[in-house]
Order: sequence, then structure tokens, then C-alpha cells
Amino acid sequence: MKEIKIGLVGCGAVAPTHINSYKQIPGATVKTICDIKRDKAAAMAAKLGVPNFTENFTDMLNDPEIDLIDICTDHASHSPLAVAAMDAGKNVVCEKCLSNTLEGLDAMLAAHKKHPELVFSGIFQHRHEKANLLLKKLLDRGCFGQILNASVYLCCLRPDAYYSDYWHGKWNGEGGSVLITQVVHFIDLVNYFLGAPTSVVAQCDNMAHQGVIETEDNAAALVRYPNGVFATICGTSASAVDKGFNATVIIGGTKGHIELAAFRPVYWRFHDKQAEEEVAALMKDYHEETPPDPEKPHYGGAHPAQLADVVDAVRNHREPYVTVEKAAVTARLILSCYKSAKTGDWINL
Ligand SMILES: NC(=O)c1ccc[n+]([C@@H]2O[C@H](COP(=O)([O-])OP(=O)(O)OC[C@H]3O[C@@H](n4cnc5c(N)ncnc54)[C@H](O)[C@@H]3O)[C@@H](O)[C@H]2O)c1
Repeated sequence: MKEIKIGLVGCGAVAPTHINSYKQIPGATVKTICDIKRDKAAAMAAKLGVPNFTENFTDMLNDPEIDLIDICTDHASHSPLAVAAMDAGKNVVCEKCLSNTLEGLDAMLAAHKKHPELVFSGIFQHRHEKANLLLKKLLDRGCFGQILNASVYLCCLRPDAYYSDYWHGKWNGEGGSVLITQVVHFIDLVNYFLGAPTSVVAQCDNMAHQGVIETEDNAAALVRYPNGVFATICGTSASAVDKGFNATVIIGGTKGHIELAAFRPVYWRFHDKQAEEEVAALMKDYHEETPPDPEKPHYGGAHPAQLADVVDAVRNHREPYVTVEKAAVTARLILSCYKSAKTGDWINL
């Protein structure tokens, strides 16, 4: 089995989740980690046992042994780093939400079109959760009948201190807030289940972080999908009573509906009794995968599954399960919500 060597850029909050995930993947090794803040890269390399660190991204691009660049930096730097990596002949996996601008997103997709032989995956790890994989199977089997609608509701608190770094809460850093950083995971699930949306109208406001963020802490959107299907989205990071990450996703069809809370089915009814039993059986033995970084349990336990798929895709020169093109559908929807919120217009996707 060919050893796949990884160079990871961005030694912040999410990086240990990635580094610990690769430790669980046979034939994958994080060779070098990089941060413009050299001391952060040095400290993380020492703590997590990575053999090399650098503050210079091009060191990893010039290393012929590195097969895969893993991007864990802020949203605004994703696009230039991904384009440079592909131009240097490296496969790429990039954290959500791909880019903070539509222009940045298009540049990433254009770079992949130029280098179609390279693997390029966008992280949406919840597509790899057991319950979501089963639901996708049931949808594809027609157990929901004709899909009618979907709904996402997220309620959490991000205190002022969360926004005190150099990029969160800024249009030119994060590119938005509650939609692009928190609600994005759940919108992506709806896109995973329903396919690519066709248009969106949205409203965004700053309700409780005035003077702290430029972006939104409260948002709502109505999204249209083909065949008259629509989804409602509502999310806030300004709720003082929800310090955790409280979210619900509901999918409704003519033959069944299901409600997920924190990625677990909590209520379901299907006309097809076999489907109902399959969900019940999953829930009977359900245990969440152990989060790879014990300090960040709210990121969930699905990063190892997605990164294992990406490593296997690189080794076997195949498409990853979450291609950048699929991840870009969700990124474009989110960025279009901001465009719509400025004008009040429907945006065609
Ligand atoms: N999938 C998930 O569940 C999940 C969870 C948390 C964060 N994320 C995503 O992960 C990404 C990183 O978030 P975070 O919270 O770890 O951010 P962070 O601010 O903690 O870390 C980002 C790091 O990147 C470094 N950096 C920025 N530009 C760089 C460059 N050009 N070269 C080298 N280093 C550079 C910064 O110095 C910083 O240390 C974001 O896209 C975020 O949305 C995903």
C-alpha cells in the first residue's frame, strides 16, 4: 500500500482533529505542518508528534514527498492556498466553507478544472455520519416518496470573545458568520439529501453582537430545489440559552418524514415499514464515533471517515465521496444568501 504523505496548513482550533484523524488511517502520515505563526506550528508539532514544521507554505509545495495538502486556515486564505497547491501538482482537501467570496470559490473550481487528475475534496464531514449515510440510501431507494420540503433550525451562542481573533466576524475574513460557519453543516446535509438548489432568498441581521462583528448572528433563508421542493433555514449564534450546538434538520416526503437533532434521528415515520425498522435498528446500536480531538467534541467524530476516503482517493486516483464540486454547491448557496440579504432579491444558483 502506497504511503500517502500529508502537509497540513493552519495550526489552529481544527488542526488537531485532522492530525489525530490521520493517525487512525493506515498508510497516512502527516509529514509537515505549517502556520504563518511559526511558534504555533512548532508547539503543535511537538504536542501531536509531527516530525516537521514550517512557517513557509511553499516549503510543503516544494517537497516532492508530500501528496496531499490539507487546508485548515481561515476562510479567506483557502482559495489562494488551494490554487497554489494544485498549480504545484498537489492533491487538496480543504475545510469548510471553501471560500469567503464567490470569486474565491470560482478560482478554486477553475484550478481543479485545470488539474482534473488531482483529488480535491471539501470537508463536510457530517455526510459521513452513519445516520446520514443511511438516510441518503433510504432517499435514493424512494422511501420518502416524493420529497416535499426540508427545514433547518440552529440555535447557539457564540460569545463576543469568540469573535476577537483576526478573522471571525469580518466580511474579508470569515465572509459571514452564523450561516457560513455554524448553519453551513446542516444546509450541506439538506443539499446532500435533496441535491443542488436552484434559487434562494435570505435575510441576515446582527441582533446581539453590535460593535463586535460586521457580519450576521441571525439569518433566515428560503431555498428552492428542482420539482417545487423547498427548504426553510433559520439560525442564530445569539441565543444566551444555547451554549452548545443545538440544531434540527427535518426532511419530509409523501411517504415518510424524519427529524434529526445533532445528527441523530429523533423522530421518523415511513409508509415503508422496512425503512422504519432500518432507522430503528441503527438507533438501537447507535453510538457516536469518538471525536478525534477530545477538546473539541462538538466537531463530531466523522473527520476520520472523510479523511480516510480522501487518502484512499489519492492512492487510487479516484474521486473522493465529497468532491469539491459537491462542497461548492453548499458554499455557493451560503454566499448567495449574503448577496440576497443585501438586495432582498431571489438569487439564481
Ligand atoms: N468541520 C468542522 O467541524 C470545523 C470545525 C472548526 C473549524 N472548521 C474550519 O476550519 C478552518 C480553520 O478554523 P480554525 O477555527 O481552526 O481557525 P484558527 O483561527 O484557530 O486557525 C487558523 C490558523 O491558520 C493560520 N494561517 C492563516 N493563514 C495562513 C497561511 N497563509 N499560511 C499558514 N498559516 C496560516 C493562522 O495563523 C491560524 O493559526 C475554517 O475554515 C473553519 O471554518 C471546521
